[in-house]
Amino acid sequence: MASVPFDQLDGFIWMNGEFVKWADAKIHVLTHGLHYASAVFEGERAYGGEIFKLTEHTERLHESARILGFKIPFSVEEIDDACRTLLKKQGFTDAYVRPIAWRGSEMMGVSAQNNRINCAIAIWQWPSYFDPAQKLKGIRLDMAEYRRPDPRTAPSKSKAAGLYMICTLSKHAAEAKGYADALMLDWRGQVAEATGANVFFVKDGVIHTPKPDCFLDGITRRTVIELAKRRGYEVVERVIMPEEMEGFEQCFLTGTAAEVTPVSEVGPYSFTVGEIAKTLMEDYSAEVQPRLAVAAE
Ligand SMILES: Cc1ncc(COP(=O)(O)O)c(C=O)c1O
Repeated sequence: MASVPFDQLDGFIWMNGEFVKWADAKIHVLTHGLHYASAVFEGERAYGGEIFKLTEHTERLHESARILGFKIPFSVEEIDDACRTLLKKQGFTDAYVRPIAWRGSEMMGVSAQNNRINCAIAIWQWPSYFDPAQKLKGIRLDMAEYRRPDPRTAPSKSKAAGLYMICTLSKHAAEAKGYADALMLDWRGQVAEATGANVFFVKDGVIHTPKPDCFLDGITRRTVIELAKRRGYEVVERVIMPEEMEGFEQCFLTGTAAEVTPVSEVGPYSFTVGEIAKTLMEDYSAEVQPRLAVAAE
């Protein structure tokens, strides 16, 4: 990870329709998004010069905003174009892409009916979310203290900034104990997801993963389920209770940042980095490469 602070990187940021110098992409301290978390964002990765499942991510950004009660003043096509142009302008082929939309500073208070909806995109180089050496051995997860909220308590289908408060708290607590991340249960006590990735388990050659009814149904999660089915693996989406981890042989996380990351421990439970996790890790690496490059091989 670069030691240069993120507000001092080089290049451009797309902000409300214009490319501005990285250091000049600023907002006022009285921004509603900062005080009341009225912000939604995306995390995408570019491989070989193309952003994987870009339109799906941009559509999710729009949907996240709709759930939070605002409309992004740029169409899916405009945001897609801005992401592609910015990737070229930044000069990267492999990079992380972060679009964000938020309520501005015209009104201050819980109500912000007339605030401008802002939108920005930043692109930087982020090779690996977890330590690459750890990733091969399987990362270690703590059990988080916080639980994913009931959908009646929070807009759990939105990739909303506010929902990450408990993720940062949980990840910090896990890191303080030497773990790479934390596994969160949901409000009912069922296994939910990690702080920024979905979770899968393997037992007797069958893949098990929780139903995403109160957390993000990740684009990587859906891609990996498709890849697993293509391989002929059975995938069962169901309620998973934490005690069941005792009997699972393999565990892995999926997410745009995390890609496919094997897990060796969750609290008291241990797993091996097995064949299915390794196969899906490789299949995912192949799947994200631009189609033309794959076809030309
Ligand atoms: C809390 C959370 N769950 C799951 C995911 C995985 O989603 P995706 O695969 O769409 O990146 C992410 C990453 O965005 C996340 O932050």
